[in-house]
Amino acid sequence: MAMTGVLRPGHAQVRVLNLEEAVQFYRDVLGLVETGRDAQGRVYFKCWDERDHNSYVIREADRAGIDFFAFKVLDKATLDKLDADLQAYGLKTERIPAGEMLETGERVRFELPSGHVMELYAEKTAIGNGLPIVNPGPWTWQREHGIGPVRLDHALLYGPNVAEVHKIFTEVLGFYLVERVLTPDGENNAAIWLSCSHKVHDIAFAEYPEKGKLHHCSFMMESWEQVLRAGDIMSMNKVAVDIGPTRHGVTRGCTIYAWDPSGNRFETFMGGYQPYPDNTEPLTWTFDNFGQGLDYPQRKLHETFLTVVS
Ligand SMILES: [Fe+2]
Repeated sequence: MAMTGVLRPGHAQVRVLNLEEAVQFYRDVLGLVETGRDAQGRVYFKCWDERDHNSYVIREADRAGIDFFAFKVLDKATLDKLDADLQAYGLKTERIPAGEMLETGERVRFELPSGHVMELYAEKTAIGNGLPIVNPGPWTWQREHGIGPVRLDHALLYGPNVAEVHKIFTEVLGFYLVERVLTPDGENNAAIWLSCSHKVHDIAFAEYPEKGKLHHCSFMMESWEQVLRAGDIMSMNKVAVDIGPTRHGVTRGCTIYAWDPSGNRFETFMGGYQPYPDNTEPLTWTFDNFGQGLDYPQRKLHETFLTVVS
């Protein structure tokens, strides 16, 4: 498949209550690689196998949650076109100058009707994954430090107006709907899983009365064994675990949900199938069967999944 337009998730900026406690958690327990700190006091991380300078940025604040989630687009011309397309659709956009985030080019920022701030950007400095590009080994020591995910994979965001968000992602940004959960009356979508690639999701949204909430940022593991190892490391470090290890019915992904020390949920995730964008029939879950969609073996609609967000 040709990859054009919006390529993939690029970075998330998340608020934490205690910066140094969070740095220790993300660096030594989740096993991200710290790549820089800026004048605003933000700390930048990437996963060990990511090549760009950063994918997960934290800043200290008096409440947890997400500041923004960003997608990398193909090039500057694509960034300009998508900016114009968003404006033509009726959304207000803002240009954040290059360098406002470390090693990151100009960003186009806009707010969704769900209250979430999204960004698009075309350029971020590639610093590599620590392996040579000629005759590389399969991994570095950083994969073995903490949980050690390979990349930031997706986010699930909670907010109102999911139907409008769905239209923006599919009609303007070129995403397609992979799966959905219906509302109890079957009339609308309670949650949507959207892809801009042939990943089973690059972002997901669930209908929720409060604007701009973070359900989780998800980090990709290489195998089910690595997800189980992540569970071991969570227990060794007394991490608050929400759900799992288990398998989702939605996406078929294998998962653990847990919380960082500030109460931001994160996921260690692997698997899922690989849809193509010409899949015109999204998979649909009825609300009464969403217990299987969330936790296939236990068939359980965990209360925390529906109600706990940051
Ligand atoms: Fe997820």
